[in-house]
Amino acid sequence: MEVQITFLPEGKTVKVRPGTTVLRAAREARIHIATRCGGTAGCLMCKVQVDEPYAAALTPPTDSERRKLGPLLEQGTRLSCQAKIVGQAQVKLPEDPLKAAIRKQLAKEEDDSLW
Ligand code: FES
Repeated sequence: MEVQITFLPEGKTVKVRPGTTVLRAAREARIHIATRCGGTAGCLMCKVQVDEPYAAALTPPTDSERRKLGPLLEQGTRLSCQAKIVGQAQVKLPEDPLKAAIRKQLAKEEDDSLW
């Protein structure tokens, strides 16, 4: 039996075996999630956002996640290297910081050109 996970905003979906980490599933879907610690909950770079209807599709937070994420857990943040897929899941990836900076700059220039 397989479970599937969808990665937003790309909307890519991949089927994996239950118990696969979100990070591994992302790699199978050819979606880049930055990491530095090799998946040991050390770098906090692999955060994803999980909306409430899909929270039960992932394993409960590990002790490492609880220690590292604290109150962010309550807001649906998970570490993709720790969270394992056990149901039909959907996660949102944070916007790439470089893309966010460019988008912000373009919006500012657009605002400035109106005046
Ligand atoms: S890969 Fe470093 S915390 Fe998940």
